[in-house]
Amino acid sequence: MQYKPKRSRAIAMPNGELRARATEYLDFLAAWVKKPRQTASVVPSSRYLARLMVADIDPADGRVIELGGGTGVFTRAILDTGLPPEKLEVVEINPAFARGLRRHFPHVSVLETPAQIVSTATAGAPGEYQTVISGLPLLAMDRRMHGDILSESFRMLKAGGNFIQFTYSMRPPVSRDVLDALDLDVERSGQTVRNFPPATVFRFFRKGD
Ligand SMILES: C[S@@+](CC[C@H](N)C(=O)[O-])C[C@H]1O[C@@H](n2cnc3c(N)ncnc32)[C@H](O)[C@@H]1O
Repeated sequence: MQYKPKRSRAIAMPNGELRARATEYLDFLAAWVKKPRQTASVVPSSRYLARLMVADIDPADGRVIELGGGTGVFTRAILDTGLPPEKLEVVEINPAFARGLRRHFPHVSVLETPAQIVSTATAGAPGEYQTVISGLPLLAMDRRMHGDILSESFRMLKAGGNFIQFTYSMRPPVSRDVLDALDLDVERSGQTVRNFPPATVFRFFRKGD
């Protein structure tokens, strides 16, 4: 009888998908080589982290903003919740990433605006957003930038709305005095080792919500 070798899962992956995954990794690496502080990681986030990031999205509720879309790992997970694409806006300042996002998600609005002035570019009005999903490299940013990004985000969020952020540390990436100045609080909402590096997810919310 002829011996038939077993195919590994990686080899069994359809060629198109394998090529798309390789391109995504190369695009990310190229962005990191050009702007290491802005990109802040050599590989995109995993789909396990993506699932944790979007766990609280209600597809029947309000609009969603994603900050720092990169190659679209979180964008895909947000749409997989069933949220209609017209309710999602993705903010990305790297023009090459923005082009890729528009190509892959033609029905989603991609804003090439710095996250710290996002409210100047959104289609929805303040209070129409249920969640901000942030892939921004907050650890590479200073306190002033943290304050600007959070106050812009909470300007858009409705009462009870959440700002979801991942980080490679166990501690929240924003200091307590910045949070107090904006009347915000934070809690850890998830953690995964199935990401490189392992990541923690934090939920920021208005005090009293
Ligand atoms: C760590 S990568 C995360 C990408 C993707 N969300 C992921 O998890 O794979 C950070 C992304 O934020 C973008 N970015 C950095 N600073 C930004 C800013 N001020 N405004 C908007 N996007 C920014 C970078 O270009 C990059 O795509």
